[in-house]
Amino acid sequence: MVNKVIKVSAPGKIILSGEHSVVYGQPAILATINKRLYVEIKKGTGPIKIITDENPELADYALSKIQKMINRKINHLKITIISEIPINHGLGSSAALAVALTGGLFRWFGKKWNKNLINQIAFEIEKKQHGNPSGADNSIATFGKMIIFQKGKIKSLRIPKFPKHPKLPNFIYLDSGPAIESTGEMVSHVSSLVSRVTYRKIIKELGQTTLRFIQTLNAPNSPNALILLLSQNQRLLEDLGVVGQKAKKIAREIENLGGAAKICGAGGLKKGSGILLCYHQSPQGLLNFAQKNNLKNYQLKLGAEGLRNENGVPQNQT
Ligand code: MEV
Repeated sequence: MVNKVIKVSAPGKIILSGEHSVVYGQPAILATINKRLYVEIKKGTGPIKIITDENPELADYALSKIQKMINRKINHLKITIISEIPINHGLGSSAALAVALTGGLFRWFGKKWNKNLINQIAFEIEKKQHGNPSGADNSIATFGKMIIFQKGKIKSLRIPKFPKHPKLPNFIYLDSGPAIESTGEMVSHVSSLVSRVTYRKIIKELGQTTLRFIQTLNAPNSPNALILLLSQNQRLLEDLGVVGQKAKKIAREIENLGGAAKICGAGGLKKGSGILLCYHQSPQGLLNFAQKNNLKNYQLKLGAEGLRNENGVPQNQT
């Protein structure tokens, strides 16, 4: 008998608009990226063995949560987790882990591949990592492509094709360095502030920026509106206290060149703030800027598939 091997994957993500404010019921726009986390499950000897460089504590916690929620004893398995998603960069690596591990175990136990249920379990796991998550990260990792997320509701967005469709902005993704704070720490930092009127106002304004962002994506190509929205968004996130000095400096320099940049996840205060979503009408100008300043440029493509069965699919396929 051939030994059973289950392989699944889930993608990383970026937030185009709405990080942090989404925790307080405002809308967010998220898209998956072409970097994935892979989970392989096969029979093992002895107790469960997880091989991962990722986040072993989270993987352990996820297993115990899944075990409880699907009411199955998970034992004698060898689980290998391999990820292309850089951690602490706001790219949703923990959500991809929660989703892929849950999806993989569903397949292992022959449970119906019910993405809504998988997403719900991944959300419970995310609570460990984020404290009080919105559910946006696990939802995009599960359902993929591009979504608007608000208060647990998921609406798919069509990804416009570039260059045929002039609406899709030609973003560039520059690295401001890894955050040393966890997403949970950044989320709880914001929650310690939102009882004050000023911060509640910022959250509301972030929500309005997201709504305008949605209109801009749906409207004819309007680079100036996009630049304005991205830089307003970044300023509001800075006012919220989730952006470190390095990322602020990069954002100001890009603005001075006529473009805009914003963080695209939880951010980070003391050191790096993760990947910056950058836009300029002349991408080459931004690429020159990145090279001159020694900033890593991530080649990301938006709109990858969500949770995916990988049996028979080569690992580098996105
Ligand atoms: C983190 O990727 C996004 C946050 O808005 C947290 C959340 O939505 O759970 C900062």
